[in-house]
Amino acid sequence: MPQTMTEKILAQHLREGKLERGTEIGIRMDHCLTQDSTGTMAWLEFEALGIDKVRAELAVSYSDHTSLGFKGESTDDHIFLQTIASHYGAKFSKNGNGVCHQIHYERFGVPGKTLIGSDSHTPTAGGLGMLGIGAGGMDVAVCMGGGPFYLTVPKMLKIVLTGKLSPNVGAKDVALEVLRRITVKGGVGYFLEFVGPGLKTLSVPERATITNMGAESGATSSIFPSDDVTKAFLKMQGREKDWRELSPDQGAVYDKEITIDLATVKPLVAMPGMPDNVFDIDQVAGTKIDQVFIGSCTNGSYQDLKIVAEMLKGKKVSTDIDVIVSPGSRQAWEMLMEDGSFLELTKAGVRMIEPGCNACIGIGFVPGTNHLSLRTVNRNWKGRGGNEDGKLALCGPQVAAASALKGVIADPRELPAPKVKVDHLTVDDYLILEPQGPKVEIRRAPNIVPLGNQRPLPPVLKGEALLKVGDGISTDAILPAGPLTQHLRSNLPETSKFTFHYDDKTFAARAAEKGGGFIVGGDNYGQGSSREHAALAPWKLGITAVLAKSFARIHRANLVNMGILPMTCNTDLIDQGDQLEIDVSKLTPDLVVKNLTKGTTVPAKQDLSEREKAMLRAGGLLAYTAQGH
Ligand code: F3S
Repeated sequence: MPQTMTEKILAQHLREGKLERGTEIGIRMDHCLTQDSTGTMAWLEFEALGIDKVRAELAVSYSDHTSLGFKGESTDDHIFLQTIASHYGAKFSKNGNGVCHQIHYERFGVPGKTLIGSDSHTPTAGGLGMLGIGAGGMDVAVCMGGGPFYLTVPKMLKIVLTGKLSPNVGAKDVALEVLRRITVKGGVGYFLEFVGPGLKTLSVPERATITNMGAESGATSSIFPSDDVTKAFLKMQGREKDWRELSPDQGAVYDKEITIDLATVKPLVAMPGMPDNVFDIDQVAGTKIDQVFIGSCTNGSYQDLKIVAEMLKGKKVSTDIDVIVSPGSRQAWEMLMEDGSFLELTKAGVRMIEPGCNACIGIGFVPGTNHLSLRTVNRNWKGRGGNEDGKLALCGPQVAAASALKGVIADPRELPAPKVKVDHLTVDDYLILEPQGPKVEIRRAPNIVPLGNQRPLPPVLKGEALLKVGDGISTDAILPAGPLTQHLRSNLPETSKFTFHYDDKTFAARAAEKGGGFIVGGDNYGQGSSREHAALAPWKLGITAVLAKSFARIHRANLVNMGILPMTCNTDLIDQGDQLEIDVSKLTPDLVVKNLTKGTTVPAKQDLSEREKAMLRAGGLLAYTAQGH
């Protein structure tokens, strides 16, 4: 039977179940990745499993989100992560080395292998032909301990690329074109596979930009073939021996197919609100901006930044705005130093910021009140820039460079297109530390607070619909990123006080006072970041079930891992403040929500596997694993 690329990799890693679309399987994860935002909890959860050392082939703990250590608690977290990784057998990528996803495909990624990461942009590795899947920290902890990762085999969406990009149009424009076509919900339940004659014109970093933003469609993962382009990239990384060929079989079966002629792709901008709020450049050119941020795991490659340096060479950015460049990795940073680009960017008036996430997660470079910040990052939801009022628009490096010169959104096709060809890369792994083993003492500051015991799901759930929210609620909305919480990620009692901070500042106090209850959501509840804290914090506040019209994959899994029941129903029939009662003693697929306030009943559904039901009855993944599963 002919197979897609994803099916080939899944088949080679299958540990439990049958490889049929729509069924649950368990697969072996070769590589595991954590970062400092979600990693402290993931490592505390790993410890709670009682496993003596990392058993996965490779685990890397990255410190990137708050690499500038904006609070003492963040610095404490970094020391905890460095020592616990070393103790249990994981490599540690230190502050300043760059963003996990870019470093992983540059220095560790292997075509045909699997990678799980406690970050939703783990599919970035698909640019190299590696199957990367984002998950909650608990799932990553289990995989680091050698356990399988469970997923429902998704459907396959084939994206055929033909033609060649026009001058000053880039891979980010392709990623935005995909989102414009399939929306932020169109990838839910799918793997995206990129094929076709056009892909040979795209480098690995360009492919990684596209797989990175596949996460914004809700897709489980995105992948490109591994071909001569991949081989050449691995050779530049000094890792040619890691190359292997990967392509779909002739006649492989896909559930859907779209074609994108690269020659017709225009420079695009996703205006504030959602990554699929995409406009042609001519529709938004001239819009006043206040900031430009170029970098992140989406567009922080040397190739991206070299293009920007060439476009700004001998020119000056507008002094009406602030412009920063933050490379995705130290490799990119050193290359910019070596070839003189760093100096060109500095002379143009660009501020150079160390490799890492920082501004992308709202740590520094926070937009002012009602300011518009143009960024080459992947997300533009409310609050993502670190405050409620700042607005974010997304674009590629070419649009960002042209706009930085004018101080308004500008069409890069009005400028000469630089010819950038990367034919060598400098390798320097000095800031990637090898593990030293159990002799290393794990250093814990007071801010590192263990999770606590998970509670079994009671037979009857009773309480108030504490909060009702609309469609597309992201994990950023449930538990904000940025300076409010980023230093409290290892301290759940404190973090949970910020739950739904932007939508309802009274929620956390009300939930705590009432001893918990229910959250009522709309479509695609929990989209976006893999942020496990968006499940941990409601759990800490006593939430026992979330009722929504539909759930995003990673968040649904995180809820179950924390013993919170995800249920779907027509939430239009429930209002905030209603008292609800649900008999979940049998956990049948069809459930009934009794609305005690309205005197009505609402039919509801749950789609838990037998394994997930057992987890909920135990109280969550940690409690279930402690039972010997
Ligand atoms: Fe970091 Fe932003 Fe990527 S927070 S992992 S650079 S999406």
